[in-house]
Amino acid sequence: MLTRIDHVGIACRNLAEKVSFYESAFGLTVVAREVVEQHGVREAMLHVADAPAGSSYIQLLEPTGPDTPVGRFIERHGEGIHHIGYGVADIQDALDALGVAGVRLIDKRPRHGSMGAAVAFLHPSGMGGVLTELVQAKAP
Ligand code: CO
Repeated sequence: MLTRIDHVGIACRNLAEKVSFYESAFGLTVVAREVVEQHGVREAMLHVADAPAGSSYIQLLEPTGPDTPVGRFIERHGEGIHHIGYGVADIQDALDALGVAGVRLIDKRPRHGSMGAAVAFLHPSGMGGVLTELVQAKAP
């Protein structure tokens, strides 16, 4: 079902600072920036590598305010890994199969994600405490 690790989502207090850090430490490049007001988050995608199954990224997430999902995450846990995003070939098929298997879904249907991808989240309570995202990349 999973084709690759698409991205690692990292919560941070200061997006500009963390982008600079990842650029200078690893020589990475920001390939997309987005503000998703609906989810209270500012994000930057840094390209890590290309593979036959698709590209992989680091997704840096800065909350737009304290009373947002990422804001509350940082309040509780501090900065750090927020979620893992796995690539899938067909996200609706994957959600249907996981639903049948009894995995707790946050999204029963895909929503719009970074760079035109379709994404859906699985609840951390059923995933060993890891907020898990499925990503079907935009067709090239
Ligand atoms: Co993500």
